[in-house]
Amino acid sequence: MSSYATSPVLLETRGIHKVFGTGKKSVHAVKDVDFTLHRGEIISIVGESGSGKTTFAKILLGLIKETGGSILYEGAARDLSTQAKRRQYWQNIQAIFQDPYSTFNQFYRVEKILNDCLVLQGKKHLSVSEKREQMRAACTFVNLKFEELYNKYPFELSGGQMQRLMIARIFMIKPNVLIADEPTSMIDACSRSTILDMLLKLRTERDMTILFITHDLGLAYYVSDTIYIMEQGEMVERGPAEDVILNARHPYTRRLVQDVPKLREDWDLSSAI
Ligand SMILES: Nc1ncnc2c1ncn2[C@@H]1O[C@H](COP(=O)(O)OP(=O)(O)OP(=O)(O)O)[C@@H](O)[C@H]1O
Ligand SMILES: [Mg+2]
Repeated sequence: MSSYATSPVLLETRGIHKVFGTGKKSVHAVKDVDFTLHRGEIISIVGESGSGKTTFAKILLGLIKETGGSILYEGAARDLSTQAKRRQYWQNIQAIFQDPYSTFNQFYRVEKILNDCLVLQGKKHLSVSEKREQMRAACTFVNLKFEELYNKYPFELSGGQMQRLMIARIFMIKPNVLIADEPTSMIDACSRSTILDMLLKLRTERDMTILFITHDLGLAYYVSDTIYIMEQGEMVERGPAEDVILNARHPYTRRLVQDVPKLREDWDLSSAI
């Protein structure tokens, strides 16, 4: 049982399925997934390419419609039937993805991108200087200078600046749940640790609960309280991060543990595998 078992449940799924297409060419991307995210917890979903991680994340976000199963937010069935309800849900749950280029409308300047976060929060009424103050604070949080960037388009930013702008957006929206889907897989090791530190800072300073998605078990162990292992659409193992690594039961998890030399050294897992 996770150490977060006693804190309130924020997001929960029961029996989530997703089948893309029909007939012979259909793909069963997510199979019967039960998932529970408690307030304050960091869960990592670990699995290889094509195991269904992004599909599951997009279902949680309401960007892909599930084929079956149910999703509860703070104990109530999620309702995305109207624009107002979707907007309210997206104040509570937000995501950053691997590819920052696909996140931003390339025709919007940085100032508009950040201003839209205030609109989502219903803060349209703020004065221009109040709005700028909040945008500046968000940029400072991610070590960007608002004055240098506000007039630029996303394509005028470096990859690292765009990653940080994505995090600045999250800082402003301040969702309860942040889904980070492989946010560091396209950047160098140095920027990677900066981004990870920023995510952990969002957790402590902005009170966020994080679902981290990665193919890297070592990274998952470093950042998370709880690990879910996903294979071919199924969650084949779950538990406190240390437990999953030390007492890997499923053969697939054992293979993943084998592939992380650092973990093997730290834990002397040779006997456990
Ligand atoms: N829109 C779609 N239409 C049809 N099939 C899809 C669609 N999106 C994903 N799939 C399929 O669903 C399966 C799971 O894909 P998904 O992107 O969720 O995997 P993933 O675990 O995120 O992989 P990666 O680590 O490479 O990002 C794959 O077989 C993929 O080809
Ligand atoms: Mg993916």
